[in-house]
Amino acid sequence: MSTVFRLDASIKPEGSVSRAVSETLENAIVAELGGDVTVTTRSIGLNPLPSDAWATAAFAGYVPAEQRTDEQNAAVALATELADELASADVAIIGAPFYNWGVTQHLKTWFDLVLTDGRFGPGAEQPAGAGKSAFLVIARGGGYGEGTPRFGWDHATAWLKRVLEDVWGYEVTVIEAELTLAETTPAMAELVDLARKNLADAHAAAERHGKAVASKIAA
Ligand SMILES: Cc1cc2nc3c(=O)[nH]c(=O)nc-3n(C[C@H](O)[C@H](O)[C@H](O)COP(=O)(O)O)c2cc1C
Repeated sequence: MSTVFRLDASIKPEGSVSRAVSETLENAIVAELGGDVTVTTRSIGLNPLPSDAWATAAFAGYVPAEQRTDEQNAAVALATELADELASADVAIIGAPFYNWGVTQHLKTWFDLVLTDGRFGPGAEQPAGAGKSAFLVIARGGGYGEGTPRFGWDHATAWLKRVLEDVWGYEVTVIEAELTLAETTPAMAELVDLARKNLADAHAAAERHGKAVASKIAA
């Protein structure tokens, strides 16, 4: 039995692009594995993690376990639970909406908490994601490619990839949908066709990568 971990960080209850593309990826994996798979999900945009838990868990690391407060024990237990969910999965899907040019606070809190766990900390003997695949599913409202006015303004993707790849050791695939605001923003009307193509390409990539990674973990 294989396990997929899926993290959704969109704050939209309906119409999230990162969630929709992640869904395509998850469905492709599940279909290819013939249902012989467990999917663990966490929706941190709609059910946020407590933003103060990270500092509490981080400082609890300097306190002997038997001397920790109830608050420190709860924060460490939460970090352990999150790290367990990720560590026990063969494949990780990280849905990353792009808000305010950077990593969303919800996603940052999740990474910060997982990083307090010894298996995922910078000092881990072996990167916990070594030999495993992680997918970064990114949705951006605007366009940030080379030659566009906002080129260089995406301050999220490189950081997310850095941690997944270089700290945790995953083999990372980035699947991106851009211009997601074109359909609802009059000033972006001339970009609608491009946005639709972008979205279709993202779903197609998710389908393709889902099948490929399922074959890999089933082998
Ligand atoms: C509060 C907020 C801030 C946003 N900031 C940006 C931004 O800085 N740049 C951008 O291109 N799009 C921005 N967007 C648009 C989102 O990137 C877009 O809606 C994307 O589809 C989000 O992923 P989701 O659909 O999975 O929620 C923002 C959206 C919201 C709600």
